[in-house]
Amino acid sequence: MKLIQGFNYLFGKTFNKKNFYLSASLLYLQRKRNIDRNYMDYIRLSTLELIAAEINEKRISGTVAELGVYKGKFARYINLYFPDRKFYLFDTFKGFEKKDVQSEIEHTYSSGTQDFSNTSVKAVLNIMPFPNQCIVKEGYFPDTAKDVNEEFVFVSIDADLYDPIYNGLQYFFSRLKKGGYIFIHDYNNDAYKGAKEAVEKFCDENGLVRLPLPDSCGTAIIGK
Ligand SMILES: C[S@@+](CC[C@H](N)C(=O)[O-])C[C@H]1O[C@@H](n2cnc3c(N)ncnc32)[C@H](O)[C@@H]1O
Repeated sequence: MKLIQGFNYLFGKTFNKKNFYLSASLLYLQRKRNIDRNYMDYIRLSTLELIAAEINEKRISGTVAELGVYKGKFARYINLYFPDRKFYLFDTFKGFEKKDVQSEIEHTYSSGTQDFSNTSVKAVLNIMPFPNQCIVKEGYFPDTAKDVNEEFVFVSIDADLYDPIYNGLQYFFSRLKKGGYIFIHDYNNDAYKGAKEAVEKFCDENGLVRLPLPDSCGTAIIGK
């Protein structure tokens, strides 16, 4: 603790200007945690680990999913922390759909110009610790969810744009188990304003609250 206080005293001003903060975490928790130091977002990963530990300890049944997988960099930890559960991976694996981007531009939520096409199902499955648990739903969401008949206990929605995020909330929340959680990435990300719009609309319509996280892209969490 003293080391952190000293560091913040000496260098905090410079680091905080770049939105970097040095802080202690879970000082008095005794169980061993598996947190990969190479993952670039400690808060996002650490929160996933805590939530997975709770769900697994309570033995709440249900599958897990991510909508918006890209190269699978976050998905691999969902698979790691839920080794005994089926894991649905929803993505076009070709980047954003034109109609979603058009709607973003009309609403001035984002430019929708980020390219997420340089990935493949094979490359994603190659980095999964438990690929046998993975069920890949390649194509446009929500069309790809039509034949899925599951109850979910954890879902990461990381599709960036308003339409897939709102459709994702509608689809997954109604199928979320009691004790389950949904992460919505980019809730506090001004480069993707549609994420917050979608979450606020969905929460207002359903009388729900969301918990904002101070991770790198401003995830929000909804629980049931
Ligand atoms: C930011 S990337 C996901 C990043 C990933 N979760 C990670 O943490 O590394 C967003 C992804 O959402 C996918 N996506 C966006 N809209 C979609 C839709 N309607 N159906 C399927 N995939 C979609 C894109 O193809 C892209 O791969």
